[in-house]
Amino acid sequence: MRQMLKVTVNGYPWEGLVKSDQSLLDFLRDELGLTGAKKGCDGGECGACVVLLDGRAVNSCLIPVLDVNNCEVRTIEGLQDEQTNQLQDAFVSVGAVQCGFCTPGMIVAARALLAEVHNPGEEEIREAMVGHLCRCTGYTRIAAAIKLAASRINPETAGPER
Ligand code: FES
Ligand code: FES
Repeated sequence: MRQMLKVTVNGYPWEGLVKSDQSLLDFLRDELGLTGAKKGCDGGECGACVVLLDGRAVNSCLIPVLDVNNCEVRTIEGLQDEQTNQLQDAFVSVGAVQCGFCTPGMIVAARALLAEVHNPGEEEIREAMVGHLCRCTGYTRIAAAIKLAASRINPETAGPER
């Protein structure tokens, strides 16, 4: 069955019929062609599908698409700005990217964290990354990358860069 949906995705209003049993992740990937959010486990276990829903990081595989009616969704494609550049550079420079499958979800979650805390500590970063699986790099490098990017984005509140 199809039902009407009205949603803003990456700043663009979208309105149309959607499959009522579809997840937000499938809608983004299959209907809008936004494949930055990855389909890993499709069950809320890996964090590869994370997007911002009204500014909050959520597993899009767990959200029925009709639940985002009148909401604002932002995917990694809609976060291409200086902050994301800094995060991407930091991920590369500390070796926090290998296959890259987990990286978009990690970066979206990091964006949500940095919107709340300018220079998060290790504990805060690890807490924000709970639910994100990386099979390649280990979490120490990912936490280091986020800390490094945060210190470059918000130098006024950062400690010394290590
Ligand atoms: S694909 Fe959504 S949490 Fe794994
Ligand atoms: S870089 Fe491969 S899963 Fe994280």
